[in-house]
Amino acid sequence: MGKKKKNHWRIIPGCELTDMDRRILEAEQRGKLVPTRELIKTPEQIEGIRRAGVINTAILDLVGERIKPGISTLEIDNFVYDYTIAHGAQPAPLGYDGFPRSCCTSVNEVVCHGIPNEFEILEEGDIVNVDCTTILDGYYADASRMYVVGGKTDPQRQKLVDVAWQCLKIGQEVCSQPYVYVGDIGHAIANHAHKNGFSVVRDLCGHGVGLAFHEDPDVDHYGKRGHGMLLVPGMVFTIEPMINMGTWEVFVDEDDGWTVVSEDELPSAQWEHTFVMTDHGVEVLTH
Ligand code: MF3
Ligand code: CO
Ligand code: CO
Repeated sequence: MGKKKKNHWRIIPGCELTDMDRRILEAEQRGKLVPTRELIKTPEQIEGIRRAGVINTAILDLVGERIKPGISTLEIDNFVYDYTIAHGAQPAPLGYDGFPRSCCTSVNEVVCHGIPNEFEILEEGDIVNVDCTTILDGYYADASRMYVVGGKTDPQRQKLVDVAWQCLKIGQEVCSQPYVYVGDIGHAIANHAHKNGFSVVRDLCGHGVGLAFHEDPDVDHYGKRGHGMLLVPGMVFTIEPMINMGTWEVFVDEDDGWTVVSEDELPSAQWEHTFVMTDHGVEVLTH
């Protein structure tokens, strides 16, 4: 999560203005938050992030095959680590700001950043987010999915999982063309969550990604249309709505300093993809 700041779009001296230059300059003149050139990836960088995404997706598929009642969240972490290393990659969470494991496992009322633990045994009906980020050749891809342990849960938790997925898809649809704003995404996501009687976590956001784990811009999952950063072709970012059954407020577990829990300890669900904005809208890099 970064702080919001105003940037100034840099023109390349001696080059004719491109369509993108013009659109960014025009937005900036209207007081909009625009990206810096550093946030625009080259085609080569995008291919690198895509390759990291292929491994990351295979890991999340593997989690889907192996997660079942009786498994501990540490066992999940172990095979995430092993698969990542076996494929010549690194798990980004391990050692990130002191995070001790290779992925985040967030069960039921845990919103995100749950730490895999040998004593946490999954039970039938638990809803679990597994969030993996893979570094390959220096490129980062970040995605997470919800898993329903044993395949069946109660109708309210199932609805929460489904609505959180719909929120991600709605964010993606908002980005079906370039030059939309981050606030357009948040506005649409929050609208869908609220319509279904759920709330949107505000303390954590999506983010730019690719050359580092967390880059600009912040991608809030609530907000106002036209606010937040302009999204232009070449930008790579996540959308990762955290949707709560009760209040949107959260607290961080004091003992481990990581685990984010809903304030009322009602269930929470999240899905995440890494996207690249193109001339025709976003493409998923973590399919
Ligand atoms: N993967 C998370 C995200 O989507 C970040 C986890 S940070 C960690 O941004 F240190 F907890 F791994
Ligand atoms: Co992320
Ligand atoms: Co993530």
